[in-house]
Amino acid sequence: MHELIQRLYENHSLELEEYENLIINRNEEAAKILRDLAVETRKKIYGFKVFVRGLIEISNICKNDCLYCGIRRSNKNCERYRLTPEQIIKCSDEGYELGFRTFVLQGGEDNFFSDEILGGIVKEIKSRHSDCAVTLSMGERSYDSYKFLRTCGADRYLLRHETADKDHYEKIHPSEMSFENRMKCLHKLRELGYQVGCGFMVNSPYQTEKNLAQDLKFIETFKPDMCGIGPFIPHKDTPFKNFNAGTVELTCYLLSIIRLIYPPVLLPATTALGTINPIGRELGILSGANVVMPNLSPVNVRKKYELYDNKICTGEESAQCRECLNNRMKKIGYEIVTDRGDIKHSMKI
Ligand code: 5AD
Ligand code: FES
Repeated sequence: MHELIQRLYENHSLELEEYENLIINRNEEAAKILRDLAVETRKKIYGFKVFVRGLIEISNICKNDCLYCGIRRSNKNCERYRLTPEQIIKCSDEGYELGFRTFVLQGGEDNFFSDEILGGIVKEIKSRHSDCAVTLSMGERSYDSYKFLRTCGADRYLLRHETADKDHYEKIHPSEMSFENRMKCLHKLRELGYQVGCGFMVNSPYQTEKNLAQDLKFIETFKPDMCGIGPFIPHKDTPFKNFNAGTVELTCYLLSIIRLIYPPVLLPATTALGTINPIGRELGILSGANVVMPNLSPVNVRKKYELYDNKICTGEESAQCRECLNNRMKKIGYEIVTDRGDIKHSMKI
């Protein structure tokens, strides 16, 4: 294990089987070594800075039916909502006042958000707040749509690959969704000059250690600007309601490895991690993450954007979430900063 970890630290690369071994044979000692190296590596690039992104959940209406997701179209118990363009702009204005310089518009694949409407919202936010980055997280769209939204000013796009294994992908998605299209979207986004985020869930149903190794290999080759990983958490109204949630332990272990694979990556300590453990996000930062994404959605819709059970931060106002995270980061010796927080590629480690 020591030799593997050392080689990962130096070369930012391992063979697929080696990643798998690193996961299968993990223990507290290996975790500690990885954590220390991940923190050291991140410190050289970003110090003890943690970037914030204001998350605006713009719609829970979704045409897809991913088996793990609480807002899948077949969930008849999900109370649907969609923010108006005016409400979305208002959230970004409030966020700006609170110091946010990145807004993430996230939602289900809701046809209401045509290029014209979504593009108009992006343009408006960018014209009101020219020093801000706008990130979209709106699922799979066409090349032309991604291209148009880019011309409207969108800077970044988050689209988790979910799993780098085609067979596994097919086990957790309905047959009308395809692994190939997911991957194609990520490559299109990159080609169009977006900063691109991929990512996956830890312990999603049927996931094997080999699948996780494939995810790591994919990250090693794709070199995403951002990478969102969080534990799978079952949602009571989905076919996967009886599967086990991912653990903080394995999620943090993988965060450390991802930091070493690609040192400049922007790596969030996700809300899902904070949901399975009261100090999950702190543990994520202490394992190598460097981004937090407090919620800026209007409080009356937050409970409805329920991808998984018991999601945190659904009762707090934006300012409260922001304050809460400030305190949490301070307590562990980190500082939330309010610049756009673009990836620092230039740094050679
Ligand atoms: N548990 C954890 N994460 C989930 N996501 C969707 N459903 C769940 C769940 N039950 C993640 C997916 C998606 C992102 C927005 O949220 O990875 O890409
Ligand atoms: Fe939302 Fe703590 S981050 S309440």
